[in-house]
Amino acid sequence: MSLIHKVEKHAIMLTGIVLGVFVFSILYAQRTYRTDVPECLPFDKAYTEPAIRQIDDHTMQVFAVASMWNFEPSEIYVPVGTEVDFFLSSKDVVHGFNISEKNVNMMAVYGSINKTTVKFDKPGVYDIVCHEFCGTGHQNMKAQVIVNVPSKTQKP
Ligand code: CUA
Repeated sequence: MSLIHKVEKHAIMLTGIVLGVFVFSILYAQRTYRTDVPECLPFDKAYTEPAIRQIDDHTMQVFAVASMWNFEPSEIYVPVGTEVDFFLSSKDVVHGFNISEKNVNMMAVYGSINKTTVKFDKPGVYDIVCHEFCGTGHQNMKAQVIVNVPSKTQKP
């Protein structure tokens, strides 16, 4: 006689299958839709100052800082075809960081840095909105990524 009941064995197997489907979905999305899985970096004060850095012709870094109730920088000019690394932090409470057209869904948490990479292939205006209720000004908390042809000057 086995130590594990038959029903229990089935439950364990089912759990394994469901977990497998989840992991597969993440890997599949990463490959097929080039969805970047956000990472949590060790906290570093250097990322908590809002900044836009052009690394080379195709790479930028944005240090995005959320606070009640805005994002800094609030306008990010990006040349078409640029890959942008967003480093996100918060000055106070937990905020959201959502670019729905690019499947970006991150949390801005005080004392931590979250990072994701987004490639902007098409010109246009991409809204960044806070999708985590953070107080009375929550609904006004937004920023924009303006993807345009190269050589437009950056705003600080
Ligand atoms: Cu910040 Cu809602």
